[in-house]
Amino acid sequence: MKGIVLAGGAGTRLHPLTMSLSKQLLPVYDKPMVYYPLSLLMIAGIREILLISTPHDLPLFKRLLGDGAQFGISLSYAEQPRPEGLAQAFIIGADFCAGEPVALVLGDNILYGQGLTDTLQKAAQLETGGLVFAYYVRDPQRYGVLAFDENMNVVGIEEKPKRPQSNYVVPGLYFYDEQVVSMARSLKPGARGELEITDLNRLYLEQRQLRVEFLGRGIAWLDTGNIRSLMDANMYVQAVEERQGLKIACLEEIALRQRWIDMDDLRKTCEQMGDSGYAEYLRRLIDGEIIV
Ligand code: G1P
Repeated sequence: MKGIVLAGGAGTRLHPLTMSLSKQLLPVYDKPMVYYPLSLLMIAGIREILLISTPHDLPLFKRLLGDGAQFGISLSYAEQPRPEGLAQAFIIGADFCAGEPVALVLGDNILYGQGLTDTLQKAAQLETGGLVFAYYVRDPQRYGVLAFDENMNVVGIEEKPKRPQSNYVVPGLYFYDEQVVSMARSLKPGARGELEITDLNRLYLEQRQLRVEFLGRGIAWLDTGNIRSLMDANMYVQAVEERQGLKIACLEEIALRQRWIDMDDLRKTCEQMGDSGYAEYLRRLIDGEIIV
C-alpha cells in the first residue's frame, strides 16, 4: 500500500501572519505538525509516500523532509495549486497510486493511543473497498458525520451538517483500494466548491464497499483546525512526553523499530541536528537508554 499526506492550505483561523504558511510546518510541542500524520503511515508499514502541498510551501516541506531516506522511506512531492478539496489528492496523485491501494492522511491530524499500531497495520492490508474510522466527539458539526440505523450499521455520511445524526465523525485517515482514483474523478465539487472526501466515502458506502471501524475512548484524536485545538494538541503531547520520557511521532525511532534504518543511519542524522530536545532523544536512542 502507498500513502499520501495532504498538507495544503493556509493555517486555519490562526494569526494572519501564519496564514501565508501551511500550518503543518508549525510545531506541535517539540516537532513539526506534519511529523504526526507521517508517523501514522510509517507505523502502518507504508514506505512509499507522496506529500501534497501548495506551490508556495512545497519547497519548505522538501527542505524539512528531503527524500525521506533518514526515515527509511521514499518521499515524493506534488503541488495542489488551489485548495480544491481533499479528494483531489487522488487525482493529483493518480500516477503515484499506479493502480495500488492507498492511504490518505491529513497533515493536521494527530492520533495516539493503545492498540493503534495494530489497527493501522491491519488497515494497511486492505485490498478491496474503503476503510474509515469513527470517533466520538462533542462537536460533530465540524467534521464528516456518520449516521447509523438501530443496529449501528452505517447508513449515511454528511460533511459538516447543521443537524448531526450522531456524535461519531470520521478522522482524517482513510484507506482505499485502487478504484479510488476513478471514483475521485467522478466527483463534482460540493457546497464549499471542493471535491469532498465525504462524497468519496459516500460513493463507497452506496456501493456497500465502505468499512467503518470504531476507535475507542482510549485513543486520542486531536486536530488543529482552530487555535484552541492547536493549543490542546501542544499540551497533550507535552503532558504525555514529559510523563513518560518517550516521544510521540519520533520518525527516526519508528524507522528504527521497523528496521528501515540502523544505528549508523541514526548517528548520521544526529550529527546534522545540533542541539534540541528532539536531537537529545535521538542520542538517548543511540546510547540504548530507550529500548527499541
Ligand atoms: C476534513 C473533512 C472532514 C473530516 C476532517 C477530519 O475537514 O472534510 O470530513 O472529518 O477533515 O479532520 P476540513 O479539515 O476540510 O474542515
